[in-house]
Amino acid sequence: MTAHNKIVLAYSGGLDTSVAVRWLMERYDAEVATLTLDLGGPVDLEGARKRALAIGAVRADVLDAREEFVRDFVWPALQAGALYEGVYPLATALGRPLIAKHLVRIAAEEQAFAIAHGCTGKGNDQVRFDVSAAALAPQIKVIAPAREWGMSRAEEIAYARERDLPLDLNKRSPYSVDENLWGRSVEAGDLEDPWVEPPEEAYTWTVSAGAAPDEPRYVEIAFRQGVPVSVDGEELGGVALIELLNEAAGRHGVGRIDHVENRLVGIKSREVYEAPAAVVLHQAHRALEALCLTKDQSRFKERLAQEYADIVYNGLWFSGHRRDLDAYVRSTQRHVSGTVRVRLHKGASTVAGRSSDESLYRHDLATYEAGDAFDQGASPGFIHLYGLPTRTQAEVQGNADG
Ligand code: ARG
Repeated sequence: MTAHNKIVLAYSGGLDTSVAVRWLMERYDAEVATLTLDLGGPVDLEGARKRALAIGAVRADVLDAREEFVRDFVWPALQAGALYEGVYPLATALGRPLIAKHLVRIAAEEQAFAIAHGCTGKGNDQVRFDVSAAALAPQIKVIAPAREWGMSRAEEIAYARERDLPLDLNKRSPYSVDENLWGRSVEAGDLEDPWVEPPEEAYTWTVSAGAAPDEPRYVEIAFRQGVPVSVDGEELGGVALIELLNEAAGRHGVGRIDHVENRLVGIKSREVYEAPAAVVLHQAHRALEALCLTKDQSRFKERLAQEYADIVYNGLWFSGHRRDLDAYVRSTQRHVSGTVRVRLHKGASTVAGRSSDESLYRHDLATYEAGDAFDQGASPGFIHLYGLPTRTQAEVQGNADG
């Protein structure tokens, strides 16, 4: 039942979505409820709430969803080893389905006929919102004003001025930025030329390698079943742990990613990311898995990681395929517990040591020193059978190249 002509809009507090509040009211003769989520970005929640109401929203929710974000989205992606195209830790891509989930929840409370978001028609984010909404509430309509209205930035400002909308135009960056706890994405401006090195001002979470301290910093990250639980012996909740590592690694210039990325809609785009905690945690987690998983488990999981990253990137979070992969990943993580020591120095993070009570590394098997438990006498028999097909082929078909 959609008794009311109501729309629930994902509201960041910025120009686009501020204009969208009024535009939706006018275009659809609708009441607009807004939702602003804190995922660890720089959003002024109270300011956003006040602005939404001043523009005419009938309800303006603000919600700190950081813990839910880390627990239900970031940690599973970390455990899966999900890095899109091998480098992007998926901060924005992981945030969208969570926002969609809360939009749909409020839409049900309000019996709204639609949800809305500020995405343009060129990016991945529209796909993530639209497909997530379709999965969670198949009957709901999704409206993307910026896909429809065809206004330039100047026209949006004129639209807002004509209607006396309170805007916050101070923090204008030359870039298009999206950020949450798991990372910061920077696009547009001079970055659109892939030949141009990102200027220092594009970065705000990390210093350049040259400006980083001369002394390295070591951090010890402990994991329990694939989830990071402490840094340098101090037990921390997920949000605090990520914040700490963003700060510590960023100060040493770790976490910059400059990537030409393949978007789902077919465009290549130049993306600059800052993700200090994500870079360090993926590296540490992988090092611990090298200790705690078998060769077969590691290799299979590597392939799965790529699949998982594609699913997340391509907006299919709320799919059975993702849930099935998660079930496998969770099973692999049962013995991924231990501590990794990472060195942060001049823009590089390096695994310096790893240890685990469930390590499969056996010193008595690996050692070249006294106490060797490896039975070298078994090797000739092993090699005899291992080499059998190759020897047979060489006897029958020859062993010459070509
Ligand atoms: N390319 C990244 C992704 O598709 C980030 C997109 C959002 N970035 C932005 N600056 N608006 O997930």
